Amino acid sequence: MTHIRKAIFPVAGLGTRFLPATKTVPKEMLPLIDRPLIQYAVDEARAAGIEEFIFITSPGKAALEAYFDTSPGLEHTLAAAGKDRLLAELRASNMPEGQHSFVRQAQPLGLGHAVRLAARLVGSEPFAVLLPDDLIRADTPCLQQMVAAHAEIGGNMVATMDVPRAATSSYGVLDIEHRFGRTVRARGMVEKPAPQDAPSTQAVVGRYILQPSVMARLQGVAAGAGGEIQLTDAIAADLATTPLNGYHFEGQRFDCGSVAGYIEATLAFAMARPDLAAPQQAAGWR
Ligand code: G1P
Repeated sequence: MTHIRKAIFPVAGLGTRFLPATKTVPKEMLPLIDRPLIQYAVDEARAAGIEEFIFITSPGKAALEAYFDTSPGLEHTLAAAGKDRLLAELRASNMPEGQHSFVRQAQPLGLGHAVRLAARLVGSEPFAVLLPDDLIRADTPCLQQMVAAHAEIGGNMVATMDVPRAATSSYGVLDIEHRFGRTVRARGMVEKPAPQDAPSTQAVVGRYILQPSVMARLQGVAAGAGGEIQLTDAIAADLATTPLNGYHFEGQRFDCGSVAGYIEATLAFAMARPDLAAPQQAAGWR
């Protein structure tokens, strides 16, 4: 069984749907309740055993890079004030030295291009990819569920969910060979097919466990859907040598790349917090 140690977080997007908020604040730094969106993806990765965090950033993401630093002054102030709970939460957002790196994507050439930029850092081991826009609420964090399933069946693995046929053009979609439990074996995968062309309604959600052979495929793929270098195309090409499994995760996914999805996620996460769901009964919770 291979330990999945490294994860790639593509965070180079402009976040235009959140303008003007994203004019100076990276989209991944927008707060969902009281922590930036990126923190949820990092927490999920850590819970799944990830030890190396590779962020694919772009110009204008300085606040995201700074976010993972320690803040000695603030920590000292909170410690002196006896705010132990806040101090613990603040410290949990620090990235231990040597665990993370940033790679710049100079041009927005697509998700496949972003992932490919981490090839040297990933090396010759399987790796995870998490798209922070896809926020998943689950009892067992989604990537942790996938790591457990991947230990059993290996290959390339993508998280999946059922979508209405009319929505297939927003997702990568699997061509299903057969299903067993939460897993579907795929014989193909296409990026953003029109509803009438979609091979199924099993859509890919932004969590992947991939073999290094996908990195090699990414070196060769041409621009695909939307004129971009697509991760989907490299995974599909890798079917020549590597099985592809979809994992129908347990949990709820929110599309935080859209304002509506962000609001929905905010409400769902707030309702799960005792101090926010019933604030009058939870005075002094923090
Ligand atoms: C990306 C992937 C797509 C996947 C989706 C999940 O698309 O290319 O295959 O289904 O994420 O959110 P994007 O939403 O970045 O266009």
